[in-house]
Amino acid sequence: MMKIIDGKETSLLVCEQVRLRAGALAKKGVEPCLAVIIVGDDPASRVYVNNKKKKCALVGIRSLEYALEEKTSQSELIGLIERLNKDESVDGILCQLPLPGHIDEKAVIEAIDPQKDVDCFCNVNIGKLWTGDAVFLPCTPAGIMKLLENYHIDASGKSCVIVGRSNIVGKPLAALMLKANATVTVCHSKTKNLAEICRSADILVSAVGKPRFITGDMVKENSVVIDVGINRLENGKLCGDVDFDSVSNKASYITPVPGGCGPMTIAVLMENTIKACEERHK
Ligand code: GUN
Repeated sequence: MMKIIDGKETSLLVCEQVRLRAGALAKKGVEPCLAVIIVGDDPASRVYVNNKKKKCALVGIRSLEYALEEKTSQSELIGLIERLNKDESVDGILCQLPLPGHIDEKAVIEAIDPQKDVDCFCNVNIGKLWTGDAVFLPCTPAGIMKLLENYHIDASGKSCVIVGRSNIVGKPLAALMLKANATVTVCHSKTKNLAEICRSADILVSAVGKPRFITGDMVKENSVVIDVGINRLENGKLCGDVDFDSVSNKASYITPVPGGCGPMTIAVLMENTIKACEERHK
């Protein structure tokens, strides 16, 4: 029987722990604070930022929003980040990606103090992730690991195939899967025999951003399928990278879109913000 991995429910478990930790900080007179920066008016980014702020309010994290105009210069943006780095009342800084084309995303990410980099995007934190010394875990990849844990799916010794090699999902997820003792293969647009490699996966993760890219014939019987894609169809509906109807006939577990990985990304962001605050007030 195929089971749905419920990201909404799992994220509530994580957020409840965060809320308790925020309560313990409040007793010491400390209010955790996340600064969220959005540049321009990309509608998807606006939705994500609103969802992050709403969750902050629910778990007891103060959020500050800096909504900058599309034409904001890179130096203005980095100037803001430098002020937030110095601001003792700010624990975490998140700059919503993508940024407008005239801004160098790498330069902006590297401007964030690693101790406030709650996305776990900067080189220092990515390095710590690979050596096993991380404080912050990358939000979407760590959210996937928490989903597996909540459903008692042990990655150890399993073959994990990740489709997509982005810095946000594919690459850092490979680090976490290796740490969990999976045998990891990362596929990308130049991969040959993609379907065959996918069929070898005990755990298949798709993060490519193409609607219904993974079809039933690419999936092993009884495998676990994790869908990171959030694609908006022409009719306005959200759709994952996985063709749910054909894949759900074969998989033992599958994440839905929406309600799978999305809520977990935000839950880990909340956890990272609390960690940042706890670390700064130790
Ligand atoms: N854009 C898409 N996903 C993310 C994320 O997890 N963090 C940030 N900052 N931007 C994103």
